Amino acid sequence: MGLGTVGGGVALALTDHANSIQRKTGFSVNLRHVLVRDSEKTRDPAPPEGVLTTNPEDILADPHVQIVVETMGGDHPAGEYLQRALDAGKHVVTANKEVMSRRGPDLMALAQKKQVNLLFEASAGGGIPIVGCLMSQLLANDIRSIRSIINGTTNYILTQMAWHQASFADALAEAQTRGYAEADPTNDIEGIDAAYKLSVLGSLAFHRRIPHHAIHTEGISQLGPEDFRYASELGYAIKSLAIAVVQSNGLVQARVHPALVPENHLLAKVDGVYNAVEVTGDLCGQIILHGQGAGREATTSAVMGDILSIVRTMGSANVPPPLPALDVNGDDTDSAVCPIDELSSAYYIRLTCADQAGVLAQVAQILGDGNISIATVIQKDTDPGSGTAQLVITTYPAREADVQFALAAVARLGVVVGVNNLIRIEE
Ligand SMILES: NC(=O)c1ccc[n+]([C@@H]2O[C@H](COP(=O)([O-])OP(=O)(O)OC[C@H]3O[C@@H](n4cnc5c(N)ncnc54)[C@H](OP(=O)(O)O)[C@@H]3O)[C@@H](O)[C@H]2O)c1
Repeated sequence: MGLGTVGGGVALALTDHANSIQRKTGFSVNLRHVLVRDSEKTRDPAPPEGVLTTNPEDILADPHVQIVVETMGGDHPAGEYLQRALDAGKHVVTANKEVMSRRGPDLMALAQKKQVNLLFEASAGGGIPIVGCLMSQLLANDIRSIRSIINGTTNYILTQMAWHQASFADALAEAQTRGYAEADPTNDIEGIDAAYKLSVLGSLAFHRRIPHHAIHTEGISQLGPEDFRYASELGYAIKSLAIAVVQSNGLVQARVHPALVPENHLLAKVDGVYNAVEVTGDLCGQIILHGQGAGREATTSAVMGDILSIVRTMGSANVPPPLPALDVNGDDTDSAVCPIDELSSAYYIRLTCADQAGVLAQVAQILGDGNISIATVIQKDTDPGSGTAQLVITTYPAREADVQFALAAVARLGVVVGVNNLIRIEE
């Protein structure tokens, strides 16, 4: 279902790799139907003769179809098609993060009931085999945290801003020209795409539902080139991170936002459209997977891996299908996820202030009253024209709610022109 960037790659691999598929699995895999919206469209490469259809029933009602591969995208109608395919006893492979984030647990429960596979490696991390790792190789671990860069578009934009002192608007335009950002980039730059993927990974890692709407999500559009300069002076890179951490009270802190990352940390060195996922487990310790999070070939690798792992089990009556690692009976509440207010983090704060004596003392007083200890202060970029200066403050770990409350008071000071940015520091 779907013959675009990903589906086109999968269709090509099924034909081009037919011999090696036979050799590796002992079976041949035949591409029987391909669902598209527009069967008249010119496609490169051209699909095999006679497979195109615009009628989903050709696939869902065909008893000869054993595996349905969904690469259409979006929740509707893809979600309904997948449900019907599972209901009909067909194995399902999907690349769809939105469907897996919104309906994953229900679809997994249905797959278990029907004793068929539902695999979704490409739905998070593209070509990086993180989903399979969480579902099988790391299953014995109590996973403590996931820290990841799982949106290549934002990582490309942030890399351009860091390397070339580009503005956000210029870096976004460059990403669009190169085909890394869509005409409507909202889902990427506002962190929505990363939240879907974190929901999938977090649910697998912690064996409970991490609904995407419970994930605190911030975009990157408020970052300016000066933030990258100041961060670098302080020894940090700025990355958009998707983080899920189990707290000592058992709740999960799940969030997507820009963060200052120490320059010597591996995640700080993940540049351009690349993705990386760091997993920390009680047995495996810290693992980092790095690779291409999108693109035809890398994503095809993930989808084909799922298809072949299903094919390998199909001939053997004694091998049960690999079942998902998620507690599919958990309820769909937000109770497993704690609010951002309870986060304890160090912060980077950038203010534009009147360039006069005593400003820092007033700001420090408010922060101190809010139990927020200052770690460093740098005053930069004085503008004699407007009589303002930039004040950059980093704090020791403090409670998010206290920091937000104090910053609202700082913003009301007569000597403060604006609170430009608040970025969490991820040590
Ligand atoms: N692109 C990537 O690098 C990447 C990486 C990881 C995961 N994914 C995921 O893979 C999925 C597909 O992405 P993509 O980039 O390949 O998308 P795409 O290039 O836009 O292709 C979508 C395909 O699905 C077909 N389609 C869409 N809606 C349909 C409908 N209602 N009925 C019938 N056919 C329909 C389209 O048909 P027409 O050709 O006739 O328009 C097209 O062939 C998404 O879930 C995406 O998140 C993509």
